[in-house]
Amino acid sequence: MARSTNDLNAVRMMLGPGIMYWAETSLTFLLSMAVMLHTDVRLTVMALLPAPCVSLAVIFFGRRIHKRFEHIQSMFSDISSRVQENLAGVRVVRAYAQENAEVAQFEQLNLQYVRENVGLTRLQGFFSSLLQAFIGLTFLLVMWSGGRQLLAHRISTGSFVMFNTYMGMLIWPMIAFGWVVNLMQRGTASLNRINEILHEKPTIARPLGQAETARDCPTDVHFRDVTAAFAGREALSSLDLAIQAGETVAIVGQTGSGKTTLVNLIPRLFDPTSGSVEVGGVDVRRFDPEELRQEIGFVPQETFLFSASLAENIAWGLPDATREQIAWAAEVAGLASDIASFPNGLDTVVGERGLTLSGGQKQRTAIARAIIRNPRILILDDALSSVDTVTEEKILNQLASLMRGRTTILISHRVSTVKNADRIVVLSKGRVVEIGTHSELQEQGGYYSDLYQKQLLEEELEAI
Ligand SMILES: Nc1ncnc2c1ncn2[C@@H]1O[C@H](COP(=O)(O)OP(=O)(O)OP(=O)(O)O)[C@@H](O)[C@H]1O
Ligand SMILES: [Mg+2]
Repeated sequence: MARSTNDLNAVRMMLGPGIMYWAETSLTFLLSMAVMLHTDVRLTVMALLPAPCVSLAVIFFGRRIHKRFEHIQSMFSDISSRVQENLAGVRVVRAYAQENAEVAQFEQLNLQYVRENVGLTRLQGFFSSLLQAFIGLTFLLVMWSGGRQLLAHRISTGSFVMFNTYMGMLIWPMIAFGWVVNLMQRGTASLNRINEILHEKPTIARPLGQAETARDCPTDVHFRDVTAAFAGREALSSLDLAIQAGETVAIVGQTGSGKTTLVNLIPRLFDPTSGSVEVGGVDVRRFDPEELRQEIGFVPQETFLFSASLAENIAWGLPDATREQIAWAAEVAGLASDIASFPNGLDTVVGERGLTLSGGQKQRTAIARAIIRNPRILILDDALSSVDTVTEEKILNQLASLMRGRTTILISHRVSTVKNADRIVVLSKGRVVEIGTHSELQEQGGYYSDLYQKQLLEEELEAI
């Protein structure tokens, strides 16, 4: 955020006023110099005596200003992300009564920021005063040497006055020069920070040669000997799994078993450490990621809504969606009756990150967003966890008829979500440990049948 606002501004100052004054001062300097040389060479040499000192000062201070400014900009980044986090997480801050602690930390950061800025201002102040002193020195030298020549009648009063007038014209360029150096140093420091991001090579990019076309490709998904590791720790270990086109596959497993990691590999949110993921028999790395993602409806585990209307949130991935399409998607996602109860219906604004919606409403909005694109592969990562079982069943039935002939992957911790899937896969520590239909797995007596027994018991207890 800081790089795209504050740093951008510093670059703008360098490219606008910076370059303009650079041109102006250079031109004034050159022309005045020409006239001065023409009037009296010896006096011009005198006037130029302090110039090497000026250059040294510019180099010396320029470097320090540059370094300090870079540091200050990175501090500004820290402060803005801190504020952003606090605003986004304001309810957590309140719930834990951490307002004062957060304010104190913010103040601490700001004090540091002020200190650094005062340091920079001191440096700049010293630099510009030094430049002024050099200007004074130049005048002193010219007055002294020119005055003596005037007394000795070696130059005329007219020439001396004229010389001094042109010298006076050099004062502004010299001051402006200091300012320009300052702008340039700030601008290049900020440009470096911006370039760091612009030159970052995305690890997930189009293949170098001709990309395979993902449109209308078969939708069977094949994981071949897939290992995915984060910082050396394996989230998936040599996993093999084949999902037929048109199949509904459910994935269950303990928390941290690698379910999310597995489905993230399909739209290439990241790539496996080794092994490959194939869609329609083609390694996903050979598709254009953008085209591949067009074919996939993805509902992530953590719902993210934008601060816009429900309709805009649903049509997010399909900007030219019609009103009918939006209403249809909301209907399939089981959101229609909720929408009817909102004052502005589909045009209700949901607040930052969907603040004004319930957890289940948020999840169903995210589902509607995925299905409006008519995806050929649908991935729901625990997307029904906040919805009651009755609503869940209704949504699943509607999805089943919608996804006929297409591939659906459902992740859940609830048996009710997964029991009607064509196949259920149980993951444990990044490996497939059980696979089969609801009744097959129940007979095996493993993790799944345990889960089923427990949830059955819970339901019975609730009924009492
Ligand atoms: N971006 C990441 N960086 C580092 N480690 C990660 C990252 N994403 C996942 N992991 C690790 O990989 C393992 C599997 O995580 P994953 O999110 O796939 O689990 P999950 O089965 O989806 O769990 P849950 O049911 O809680 O959603 C975990 O141990 C987790 O800490
Ligand atoms: Mg997960």
